[in-house]
Amino acid sequence: MSIVNHPTTPYTDQRPGTSGLRKKVSRFQQPSYLENFVQALFDVLDGAEGATLVLGGDGRFFNRQAVQIILRMAAAKGFGRVLLGQGGILSTPAVSALIRGHQAYGGIVLSASHNPGGPDGDFGIKYNAGNGGPAPEKLTEAVFQRTLTLTHFCATDSADIDIDALGTQQIGQMAVEVIDPVADYAALMQTCFDFDAIRALFAGGFTMRFDAMNAVGGPYAKHIIEGMLLAPAGTVVNAVPLEDFGGLHPDPNPVNADDLMAHMAASNAPDFGAASDGDADRNMIVGRGNFPVAPSDSLALLAAHARLTPRFSQDGIAGIARSMPTSQAADRVAAALGVPCYETPTGWKFFGSLLDAGKVSLCGEESYGTGSDHLREKDGVWAVLFWLNILAVTGLSVEALVRAHWTKYGRNYYSRHDYEGVDSTAAEVLMTALRTQLPALVGREFGEQRIKLADDFAYTDPVDGSVATQQGVRLIFESGARIVFRLSGTGTEGATLRVYLERYEPDPAGQHLPTQDALAPLIAIAQDLARISALTGRATPTVIT
Ligand code: G1P
Ligand code: ZN
Repeated sequence: MSIVNHPTTPYTDQRPGTSGLRKKVSRFQQPSYLENFVQALFDVLDGAEGATLVLGGDGRFFNRQAVQIILRMAAAKGFGRVLLGQGGILSTPAVSALIRGHQAYGGIVLSASHNPGGPDGDFGIKYNAGNGGPAPEKLTEAVFQRTLTLTHFCATDSADIDIDALGTQQIGQMAVEVIDPVADYAALMQTCFDFDAIRALFAGGFTMRFDAMNAVGGPYAKHIIEGMLLAPAGTVVNAVPLEDFGGLHPDPNPVNADDLMAHMAASNAPDFGAASDGDADRNMIVGRGNFPVAPSDSLALLAAHARLTPRFSQDGIAGIARSMPTSQAADRVAAALGVPCYETPTGWKFFGSLLDAGKVSLCGEESYGTGSDHLREKDGVWAVLFWLNILAVTGLSVEALVRAHWTKYGRNYYSRHDYEGVDSTAAEVLMTALRTQLPALVGREFGEQRIKLADDFAYTDPVDGSVATQQGVRLIFESGARIVFRLSGTGTEGATLRVYLERYEPDPAGQHLPTQDALAPLIAIAQDLARISALTGRATPTVIT
C-alpha cells in the first residue's frame, strides 16, 4: 500500500455555513469535490499524526462512499486510529460523545442534518474538534481559505474496507475500529437520567410514539427506549435509517412530522409524542391531543425541572444559553434560578466555549435544538429522555406541565416564518434595506408597539473574545416583543429568509390564543417593514413553525 498524491483544482464554493459544508449530492459527486474539502481540513489540523479520529454519518445517500474516501485520506494524513460507526452510521450527538469519551483528536460527521436526502437531496460534512463540538469559525474559515489554493489531495491506494463488520482492520499503519454506533451513547444517557423511574412509567401503561423519520435517531431511540426502558415494541417508528429517509423530510416540526401530529390528535393518541431529525440532534415534543411544545418553551421547561434528573439533582444548572432568535422564555427561568442566561448567534458552535468554561449547563435554539454539557452538540434523543424523566417524576401530562409553566413564568408566544428558496439577490436587498433603516427605526410606533432597540446582532464571546457580527436584524419593542430577520446559513437553494416573532403574555387568561393570532400584529409589522412581498414576490411564508 502506498500514498498517492492526486493533482486537483480548487472549488470556490466550499465555505462551511451554520453547520458544516452542505450541498446537493450532485455537487459532492463532482470529481474530487469531497476530497478537496477533506484535504483542506486535514491540512489545517496540526498534530493529528497517530491520533484518533471519529467518523460516521446519518446514513444518507453517498454516506457509504464518503466513508471509504475519508478513510483512505485519514490513513494518508497519518491518523493512528479511526473509530467508525458500523455501516458508517453515527448520529451527531454520538460523534460528540465518542470524541469526548475516547479523548479523540476530533471527528467527522457526514450529514446535512434536517435537509432532504437521496440522490437528488443534500449531503454534508462537518468537523468536530477535540472538545466534541462543532469547529469554531476560526477553523472553518481556515479550511475554506485552504480549499482555494489546493493543488493536491493525498489518499492511500488501498481497497474499500468492510464497514459493516464489527472489529479492527488496518489501512497501512492506521487501525479502523468498526464499533457499535449506539453503545457509548446509551451508557452516557444512563448517567444523565433516572432510567428506573422511566421504566416504571412505561410499566404503568404510559404510551409513547417516537418517530425517527427513517433517519439516524432510529437505532438510538429503539435501543434505549424499547431495549433499555422497556417501552412496548413499536413505540419507536420509522426506526431504520434509509438513504433517502423514505421520502420523508427529516426536519421534525409539525409540518414535516404530520404523521406524528395525526397520531397525537387521534382519540386513542399516545401520552407522549417525539421526533428527531436526520442526524438526531434535533427533537420535537408533542403532548397528547395535538399539543406541540415550542422548542423555546421546551428549553425553559427543562431548565426549570433540571433538578429532577440525576445529572443536575445535586448542583442544579450553572447557566443557560440560547441563540438570539430563540424566545426569552428561558431567561425568565434563569432569573428565577439566579443563574446567568447568555444570548449567542444562531448555530451550536457558539455554545462550545460557554460549555467548556462551565458557564452554562443547558443550551437551546428555537430550531428544535436542545442540549447540555453532557456533550457539545444538541441532542435529540437526550431531550426526549429528559422529558420522559420529568413526566415520570411529576406524573403530569405534557400539556399540564407546559400550562403550569406559563402560569408561573408567563407565556412567550413564538413563531418562525420561513420564506424558502427566494432569489438570493432579492434576499440580500431586503436585508440591506433593513440594515440601512436601523438607526432611524428606534422610537417608531406601530399601533401599540414602539421600537426600543433596533440593531444588527453582534456577539463577543465572553470566554475567548471572538467576535461575530451581522447575526440578524432585531427589533425589540418597549413591550418586550421582538421581531428578528436573518438569512439561513444552511440552505442549498437560493436564500431562505427567516422571520422570528415573539410576544410575552404574563396573564394566564391571555395565554390560550392560537399562536398566529396572538402574533398577528407583529407579523403585519414585519411584512410591512421589510417589504417582504414586494421584494421576494412571496405573499406568505413557505413554512411556519
Ligand atoms: C438552522 C437553524 C439553527 C441551527 C442550524 C443547524 O440554521 O436555524 O438554529 O443551529 O440550522 O441545525 P440556519 O439555516 O437558520 O442558518
Ligand atoms: Zn440535525
